[in-house]
Amino acid sequence: MKFEVVTGDITKQTTAVAVVNLFSGVIEPGGATGAVDSAIGSTISKLIEAGEIKGGASEATLIHTLGDRYGDFAPDRVLVAGLGKSNSLDADDIRKIAATVARRVRSIGASEATTILHGAGIGGIDPAVSAAAIVEGTILGAYEFKNYKSSSNDDDDDTGGLETLTIIELDSGKANEVQAAVDRATSMANAEALARDLVNHPPNIMTPTRLAEEAVAVAEATDGLSITVLERADAEKMGMGAYLGVAQGSHEPPKIIRIDYAGDPDDADNNLWIIGKGITFDSGGLSLKPSSGMETMKSDMAGGASVIAAARAIAEIGPKINVTALCLATENMPGGGAQRVSDVVQAMNGKYIEVINTDAEGRLTLADALVYARENGARRMVDIATLTGGIVVALGKGNSGAFSNDDELVNALIAAGDKRGQSFWRLPLDDIAKRQNRSKIADLKNTGGRAAHAITAAHFIGEFAEDTPWVHLDIAGNAMSDGTNGILTAGATGLPTRTLVQLALDLAEANS
Ligand code: BES
Ligand code: MN
Ligand code: ZN
Repeated sequence: MKFEVVTGDITKQTTAVAVVNLFSGVIEPGGATGAVDSAIGSTISKLIEAGEIKGGASEATLIHTLGDRYGDFAPDRVLVAGLGKSNSLDADDIRKIAATVARRVRSIGASEATTILHGAGIGGIDPAVSAAAIVEGTILGAYEFKNYKSSSNDDDDDTGGLETLTIIELDSGKANEVQAAVDRATSMANAEALARDLVNHPPNIMTPTRLAEEAVAVAEATDGLSITVLERADAEKMGMGAYLGVAQGSHEPPKIIRIDYAGDPDDADNNLWIIGKGITFDSGGLSLKPSSGMETMKSDMAGGASVIAAARAIAEIGPKINVTALCLATENMPGGGAQRVSDVVQAMNGKYIEVINTDAEGRLTLADALVYARENGARRMVDIATLTGGIVVALGKGNSGAFSNDDELVNALIAAGDKRGQSFWRLPLDDIAKRQNRSKIADLKNTGGRAAHAITAAHFIGEFAEDTPWVHLDIAGNAMSDGTNGILTAGATGLPTRTLVQLALDLAEANS
């Protein structure tokens, strides 16, 4: 999808759909909406008067202006997008509006549209912020995954979809700044769409091997990225017993995927490691899940997908920071070679772990991932994992869980998420929960019981972060969306790809 920023008058744009907007309660539209209204015989005002257009959030009213009824009014249609109340509009509302508009434009078969910048007038929103939100909402709201639908079986009748969105900025002095924001947002949102693709593929296709191949393809197609894929034998040499214990129940070979972006080659310590859980299917292993619990477990590599995708956007944008994306990919299967309940495995740092429940596999793979990161010079680490059912119970879908040993890093991450409309809520890492991971026969056990289990899981990973600044994100509640709503479409969300990219930009900025 292409985005073009132009300065000009929307009534003079030759376009299939001219998107304008209205706050709720406004009777006489002003600005660009007012100009369009005047040009089309006050149709908008009349529809407001008739009560059809109310300006409510996510309302979208289509007015046909084809033909020469309105003199030299160039657009073929006008789409009036409701903005809701003028005092509460924020970037996330704009993302949702843009998503609704994108789906509406697609449903009428248009491949291009022109929009004004929502909220940049009386809404008081910075034009660059509005433009970025429009881009994110458009790309993510229009996202579809149709790889396994034969065209004869495709029940929605839409066409190729939106290809070009022209964004009108009235102030020509701001066009460059707006274009730069549009370019960054395009990279971020396309990366999040890539993460969705990787997660949406079924688990018989998106095996660790295929995930590694996709990562190679991303790295090879993107300037500034280098990739390393390590094999089971490498993991054995490094002593990754915790990760290998998970992998041993599957016929699919495990793959260690590492992508490097060297944005600050003169300062190796200026780095960020983003480490994603990469279980391409989580059956639970011998501690088998009930079938209903397995239905969404192809999404157990959503963290891994997000770090691979984020690496691409980071390289495209080019911040002055070194970023390494790491994913220790494997299936968690109950094959004949599977690890047993009560096995003891040894992680890469020598710690012994008693495997109480083979379904608590994510923390085992992340343990070795974090040790590997630290031994390879990580100075800041963020791990992203669909880790626990407990976080879903605690936080639902409104927030993902954040845990950390470093106030500064976790605050930077939460702030980055806020900029991108992705919410994280920090939970404590208290000593009482930490003690629940004590084993009678090993250094640690891999489950800490029912109480606070999202916290004990985070503590387990924290044992391997030691004193390196680290944030753990538990995204189990937010990797998948049940339906299409705002910028989310049914299936994978791609979250928190954009937040990871924003964090890298913000850390680079703070360091300069
Ligand atoms: N991948 C699951 C967590 C999960 C649950 C992700 C729901 C997405 C949606 C994880 O590996 C798991 O099985 N966790 C168990 C741990 C338990 C056995 C200690 C859980 O949280 O129930
Ligand atoms: Mn599991
Ligand atoms: Zn899992």
